[in-house]
Amino acid sequence: MSWFYRSILRPFLFAQDSEEIHNFTLRALARASRHPVLCEALHEFFGAPPLPLTVFGLHFPNPVGIAAGMDKHAAAVPAWESLGFGFTELGGVTWHPQPGNPPPRMFRAVADGALINRMGFNNPGAEALAEKLSGWRTLGHWPTHPVGINLGKSKITPLDKAADDYANSFRVLRPFADFFVVNVSSPNTPNLRQLQDKTALDEILASLQQLNDSAAAPGGGVSVSAPKPILVKVAPDLSFEALDEILELAAPRHLAGIVATNTTLARPETEDVRLRSIYAETGGLSGRPLRARSTEVIRHLHRETKGRLPIIGVGGIFDAEDAWEKLCAGACLVQVYSGLVFEGPSLARDIVRGLTHRMRQRQG
Ligand SMILES: Cc1cc2nc3c(=O)[nH]c(=O)nc-3n(C[C@H](O)[C@H](O)[C@H](O)COP(=O)(O)O)c2cc1C
Repeated sequence: MSWFYRSILRPFLFAQDSEEIHNFTLRALARASRHPVLCEALHEFFGAPPLPLTVFGLHFPNPVGIAAGMDKHAAAVPAWESLGFGFTELGGVTWHPQPGNPPPRMFRAVADGALINRMGFNNPGAEALAEKLSGWRTLGHWPTHPVGINLGKSKITPLDKAADDYANSFRVLRPFADFFVVNVSSPNTPNLRQLQDKTALDEILASLQQLNDSAAAPGGGVSVSAPKPILVKVAPDLSFEALDEILELAAPRHLAGIVATNTTLARPETEDVRLRSIYAETGGLSGRPLRARSTEVIRHLHRETKGRLPIIGVGGIFDAEDAWEKLCAGACLVQVYSGLVFEGPSLARDIVRGLTHRMRQRQG
């Protein structure tokens, strides 16, 4: 399938606008998601073999997830499991619905296997997302794998009110997901990355954990359940010192883990004129050129935490070898976005198969 995708389907898809093809694919997956028979058919083709593991108290059927940004509207929640993914991260979602930046806002650098995006958190808002998720649950089409939600800050909310913005989203969405990722690392919301500063991040995490505790306490909030794992997603452009400051919050704020990394503002060197014009676009770069830096960040986080804090590795994973590199650097789970665009729908299955093979080899 990956040969068929790369040689036949991809040239056709790549001849069209990035965002239009993204929306077209999501609509197709949304349609499939409403019909269990279609989901089963997808699963027949693309389902991954089991490679189970338990991380921050959740059971994952395999370690390969779909990264944030792919399904911001929770349009195709059941389909990701059918495509072999071991978990899903929906969103980013913000408290206020917002259209994002004007198009065009997603670009392909095909020769480098890279994407640039400046979507700017286009999303329906937390309340609409909660309604959508409630709908999937009512239909009984809820995946058996863990579902997380990526939380961003609304553009209209000033930085000094960021904690309230994240907390509002968390309050309405908490009952609907298994884990949450605080995204303070997108380059496409003005000044968002300043929230990676220790004091600002501490305020956000404190307000989320307060809600988490009160909802978990008997008679507390909307749903009485165990506190939901909360992770922080970091930028690959942070210095090791800045990453270490974030790690200082891990114990006091009961962080369940770190997602490393988001897209980068850096651009690869190139003599190719076409690539240069794409790299001149404003936005975050993902895909192959991000791979090495994201692995470096993971290795640093793993070393500093002595392997005690779970890391979800994301950035430039296109095959099992790339995923293995992330796991060897200290990640326990991985995610893909650009890899799926370039390699096609059998990616999760192929990675899980490759990882299984490598693990067997290592066990001798
Ligand atoms: C179009 C697009 C939209 C994205 N939106 C989000 C988002 O809303 N929240 C977030 O944390 N990351 C977002 N990301 C970043 C991805 O989740 C991921 O961290 C990044 O693309 C690196 O992985 P990759 O090299 O596999 O693409 C987005 C990426 C792309 C390409």
